[in-house]
Amino acid sequence: LTGGRFVYASLICFLILKFVLSMSPIFIRHLSEEDIRVANSVDIRSLRHPQYDLERVKKTEWLVVIGVCTHLGCIPIPNAGDCGGWFCPCHGSHYDISSRIRNGPAPYNLEVPIYTFLDENQLLIR
Ligand code: FES
Repeated sequence: LTGGRFVYASLICFLILKFVLSMSPIFIRHLSEEDIRVANSVDIRSLRHPQYDLERVKKTEWLVVIGVCTHLGCIPIPNAGDCGGWFCPCHGSHYDISSRIRNGPAPYNLEVPIYTFLDENQLLIR
C-alpha cells in the first residue's frame, strides 16, 4: 500500500478493532471465600503475567474481566480447564480463578475493564 492508502487502511482496521472490542463479552463472577483464598495463595513469581488477585479486583468477592482470550480473541469457557477458571478451546489456554493465564499460548491474563461500583447493586463498565 502507498502512504495515503496505508493510513486509510490502518484507520479502517483501528475502527473495526474498536468496534469488535466494544462488543466484547464481560465475565462477572462472584468469588467464594475459598476462591479468594486459592487466588491469593498463588506464588505470582510462577505466573507468565504476574499479578496479585487484589490488583485485578475492586471488591475481593467480585471478579470483572473482558471475556476475550488474550491469544487470538476466542471466548473462553467458564468453570473449565486445569486451573479452576476458564479454558479457551481454540488453542488450549487455561486461566485460573482470577482469570490469570496459567497454561497455553495466551500471553496475558484476561483484561480487566475500567469499571466502578456505583452502589451495592450497580456496576458501571466503561
Ligand atoms: Fe485462546 Fe488461542 S485464542 S488459546
